[in-house]
Amino acid sequence: MKAIQCVAFGPLENLVLADVPDPVAEAGEIVVQVKTAGVNFPDALMVQGKYQVKPPLPFVPGLECAGVVSSVGAGVTGFKPGDRVAALPNPGAFAEQVRVPASAAFLIPDKITFPAAAAFLLTYGTSWYGLVTRGHLAAGETLLVLGASGGVGLAAVQIGKLLGARVIAAASSAEKLDLCMRNGADAVIDYSHEDLKARVRELTNGKGADVIFDPVGGDFTEAALRSCAWRGRLLVIGFAAGAIPKLPANLILLKGCSVIGVLWGSYSVQEPEAYRAEMLALIKRLAAGELVPHVSATYPLARSVDALNALIGRSATGKVVIET
Ligand SMILES: NC(=O)c1ccc[n+]([C@@H]2O[C@H](COP(=O)([O-])OP(=O)(O)OC[C@H]3O[C@@H](n4cnc5c(N)ncnc54)[C@H](OP(=O)(O)O)[C@@H]3O)[C@@H](O)[C@H]2O)c1
Repeated sequence: MKAIQCVAFGPLENLVLADVPDPVAEAGEIVVQVKTAGVNFPDALMVQGKYQVKPPLPFVPGLECAGVVSSVGAGVTGFKPGDRVAALPNPGAFAEQVRVPASAAFLIPDKITFPAAAAFLLTYGTSWYGLVTRGHLAAGETLLVLGASGGVGLAAVQIGKLLGARVIAAASSAEKLDLCMRNGADAVIDYSHEDLKARVRELTNGKGADVIFDPVGGDFTEAALRSCAWRGRLLVIGFAAGAIPKLPANLILLKGCSVIGVLWGSYSVQEPEAYRAEMLALIKRLAAGELVPHVSATYPLARSVDALNALIGRSATGKVVIET
């Protein structure tokens, strides 16, 4: 089968389209014929050797996909060849086929398209876990989302609205903010030239944001923390801007606020039952049309590097997917 291979950590351009042996399902695993793979920032970090997990080389990148089960290993119940699934390989999705533990796969109903399913699990799973399970976002609270037009960001905007929060979306261009408005944002801030803290204060009559969803990091994190309300929650999601911020502890004390780490991949390992129940409930919301992934671009497998570069180059919005 064809697969994208990372043979050495480094620039994305090192990735090659290779012929590799078809995967075989071992006990507890299924093999998925990949129709669509979702592209995520951590994929790019992993290929560059900048991610917390460094798979043994060579490896096939890609942390999520949707497709059809082609075979099941010993002991697998709940899946059979022909089933439509969304799955979370660790990694391996940028390929025509991938084997995944059955515990990392979810049946999807016919009404969910493969691109929507491939664009859903990782971003909506992360954003729901952050906002609801960790952040306890409540109806009527104000949610500030940084990087709001990106993968986890736009999912957070939609989830915030679904939960009845007032959503302030922050992003770096008018086009990105327009997309956020079309996805339900109540107010927007262009943080490429507006003062984040001052604008949040202005939009909340001086109170500040109750929950801050931060997948960007860099200098924006401290500015966002300074715009946090009394008893607010700053959710540390990621560092797309590159720099890992250091926060003045006095600000946390003075605001009586919490800084909360959100690592969805570890949630699935540490609390597998709660995680799986949460994902099954989220897939129902996807099927019901309550949450609608925005797929902004589709690339063929051979152009996976371009797909990843769209994220690194900050030109992607919503989700980018790869079709095999
Ligand atoms: N904690 C978890 O469990 C978890 C799970 C998934 C992802 N993440 C992390 O969340 C972050 C976002 O992931 P994603 O898949 O949503 O990525 P994405 O779709 O590329 O979105 C990232 C957003 O960050 C903003 N950004 C600011 N500076 C940037 C820079 N120098 N380069 C690229 N983007 C920049 C961009 O918006 P503007 O141009 O508007 O600023 C962009 O929309 C990553 O750090 C990722 O590792 C964490």
